[in-house]
Amino acid sequence: MQKSEFSFIDPDDFRGSVLAWYDTNARALPWRSPVGNVPDPYHVWLSEVMLQQTTVPAVIQYFTKFTRLWPSVEELTKADQDDILREWAGLGYYARARNLHKCAVEVVTHFGGAFPQTLEELESLPGIGAYTAAAIRSIAFDKPASVVDGNIERIYARVMALKTPLPKGKVEIKALAHYLSDERHDRPGCYAQALMDIGSMICTPKNPDCASCPVSNYCAAFHQGEAELYPYKQKKQPKPVRYGVALWITYECGQRLLIERRPDKGLLGGMRGLPGTSWEKDRTLSDCSEELILLLKNLNLSTDLPQLTKLPEIRHVFTHFELRLKILAVSLGDANAAQIPANYFHVNLSESKSLGLPTVFKKAYNVMVKL
Ligand code: ADE
Repeated sequence: MQKSEFSFIDPDDFRGSVLAWYDTNARALPWRSPVGNVPDPYHVWLSEVMLQQTTVPAVIQYFTKFTRLWPSVEELTKADQDDILREWAGLGYYARARNLHKCAVEVVTHFGGAFPQTLEELESLPGIGAYTAAAIRSIAFDKPASVVDGNIERIYARVMALKTPLPKGKVEIKALAHYLSDERHDRPGCYAQALMDIGSMICTPKNPDCASCPVSNYCAAFHQGEAELYPYKQKKQPKPVRYGVALWITYECGQRLLIERRPDKGLLGGMRGLPGTSWEKDRTLSDCSEELILLLKNLNLSTDLPQLTKLPEIRHVFTHFELRLKILAVSLGDANAAQIPANYFHVNLSESKSLGLPTVFKKAYNVMVKL
C-alpha cells in the first residue's frame, strides 16, 4: 500500500482520539508511570523484554519480583546469571533471561548506566530487536517510533480491512504504522501504550467491543460489520513432534533428586532440569534406550531399563515443536555415595520447588511427586 492510500485517515485526528481515550482509560500497570510523569527506562526495558511473547497478566508478578530483587540496571549487573535464570523460570523463552544480564552490563559499561535513545543504539544491545527498540524509545523517552506488537497489528489490520494474510500483511501494517507514528511528537509513548490497551481491552481477537472504540469511525472492518474476521492469517503448519526420555533419579527413599545444569548453548540453555536423552523427531523408543544406557553409564549407574512405552509421559509445546517426554524413575540409596559429573547435583525434594525449573520440567516434577 502506498502512503497516499491511507489518506482516508487524518493522522492528527486519529491520534487525538486515541490519546483522549488513553487519558481516561489507561491500564495501571506496575512498569508504567502515571500519564504526565517520566517513566523509568529500566522499568520500561525490563517490562518490554518480559512482554516479548508473554501476556501482561503473566508478566506482572515477574516484573514486581525482579524490580524488588534488582531495583536498577546497576544492581542487575551485579546479579549472578544463575539467579536471574532461576527467577525467570516459568516465563519461557530463556534466551531473554540470558540476554538480560548481558544487556545490563553493556548499558552500564558503554552508556554510563543510561539507556540509549536512538533505535540504532537500542538495537545494538543484546535481546533488543526492532519492536523492543521502538517500544523503549517511545515509552521511556517519548520519542517518535513505529511500535507494532500483536495487539497493534490487529487494530491496524482492521482499520485497513487488510486482506493480505499475516505474516505477509505485516508490510502493509508497518506502512500504516509509519504513516501514523513516525516523526509525530504528540506524546508518542502514550500513543503506543494506548493502542496496546485498546488492542487488549476493546479490539480483542474475539467479540471486539467496537461500540467503545475511539477509532471505529476509521475502521474499514467495523464499517463492513466484520471486525472479527481480521487479521487474516496464513494457515499454520502443525508443529512437529519430538520424543525423549527424562530421568527421575531419586535417592534415600525419594528424599533427594538428581538435577542437571543444562549446557549454556541450546534450548533452555543454562537452566536446571531433569537429566535425559536429547529430544528428537522420527525416533523410536529403542533409539532412546541406546542413548539412555550411555547416559546412565556416564552417571556411573547401572540399571535395567523397563519397557519405555509404559512410562508416564508429559507433553509440552515449544515454539517450534511439541515434546512428548517419557519419565523413567530410578530409585537409589545414598546420594553422597554417588559419583556424578560436574554439571549434575542433588537437591532435597522438598527444596526443588524453589529451584527455578522451566515449565516442561515442572510438569514432569508434578507428575512424579504424585505417583
Ligand atoms: N505489551 C507489550 N508492551 C506492553 C506495554 N508496555 N503495556 C502493555 N502491554 C504491552
